[in-house]
Amino acid sequence: MALYSDKVMDHFRNPRNVGVIENADGVGEAGNPVCGDIMKIYLKIDDDVISDVKFETFGCGSAIASSSMATELIKGKPVEEAAALTNKAVTEALDGLPIHKLHCSVLAEEAIKLALKDYYDKNGIPYDPEEFKGLVDCASCAENH
Ligand code: FES
Repeated sequence: MALYSDKVMDHFRNPRNVGVIENADGVGEAGNPVCGDIMKIYLKIDDDVISDVKFETFGCGSAIASSSMATELIKGKPVEEAAALTNKAVTEALDGLPIHKLHCSVLAEEAIKLALKDYYDKNGIPYDPEEFKGLVDCASCAENH
């Protein structure tokens, strides 16, 4: 059996939603200190719906495929639905990832959550801090810049 599913290969070769949103409503940057890969997510939000989403990923093929799939999964969805996206859902939508590549999909979940937190913070929207516990926005890490 091939190491990577057709869907992973497709999203790696033809990633959807690559780019930057100027004046995004929320931006989140997640990184993995072990492999050094970084994923940045930009959200445009209108009436509590993700009207547009873009990503920039400096990382492995699985991280690119995960970013692409994750952005497709939240585009056009209400904010609460995007906040509930798990790396498991991203992995399932990709028809699986090798076990040693599961952490790549975690970056997508974390970057989306951080972008939503940024949106909540910028707009004074209250949230449960527990939801974001343990997440570190790479944009705030001096060593990455
Ligand atoms: Fe680290 Fe893929 S190897 S994100």
